[in-house]
Amino acid sequence: MRTYRIAPSILSADFARLGEEVRAVIDAGADVVHFDVMDNHYVPNLTIGPLVCEAIRPHTTAPIDVHLMVKPVDRIVPDFAKAGANIISFHPEASEHIDRTVQLIKDHGCKAGLVFNPATPLHYLDHVLDKLDLVLIMSVNPGFGGQKFIGEALKKLRAVRQRIDAVTRETGREIWLEVDGGVKTENIAEIARAGADTFVAGSAIFGSGDYRATVAAMRAALAAA
Ligand code: DX5
Ligand code: ZN
Repeated sequence: MRTYRIAPSILSADFARLGEEVRAVIDAGADVVHFDVMDNHYVPNLTIGPLVCEAIRPHTTAPIDVHLMVKPVDRIVPDFAKAGANIISFHPEASEHIDRTVQLIKDHGCKAGLVFNPATPLHYLDHVLDKLDLVLIMSVNPGFGGQKFIGEALKKLRAVRQRIDAVTRETGREIWLEVDGGVKTENIAEIARAGADTFVAGSAIFGSGDYRATVAAMRAALAAA
């Protein structure tokens, strides 16, 4: 039986009450805080940076999962590590030297993840998968919450699941397989069956009136998956 993690994306939280929102959602049974960083350059939106990460850090002991949608990547990595990030993920198209960026993240004491846009090929995993702690498959084009799940992501999840399992069999390394975009109570079981173990959900959780009920419904769907 796989361990499943629910990672609410605070992009859909009430930014005026962010600390409270983080506490509420973890209190409601979620596992990981997903933190979307957008730069109005790599993606067409502008969100939050290390200052905000630092500000929410005292509000939870749950891992903060920083999803960098910024270009360049390396300059900002140490800032997020200092701000209390636990996991830092980046897009291969945004880094000139992918292996170097992975190493930089680890050198700063964080877990490293690589993120695949809907049209980004998986070949970027070829020489680096065994160094990663997390692979993140985007099921929407990055930039905004509340978009519709792109079904092609299921195929990609199946392919990455096989590759991760092969690495784990060979080396014993644990690598999380995360999915991000359009995840809802209604489709989470199907996504789990495709191989994901960590589920980002922004609008589905923060847009619901009752975080606890939504997280519980997602867990129930996962248990039945
Ligand atoms: C999109 C972000 C997502 C987003 C997900 O670029 O990376 O994390 O917040 O939002 P939902 O769950 O609403 O699709
Ligand atoms: Zn994200």
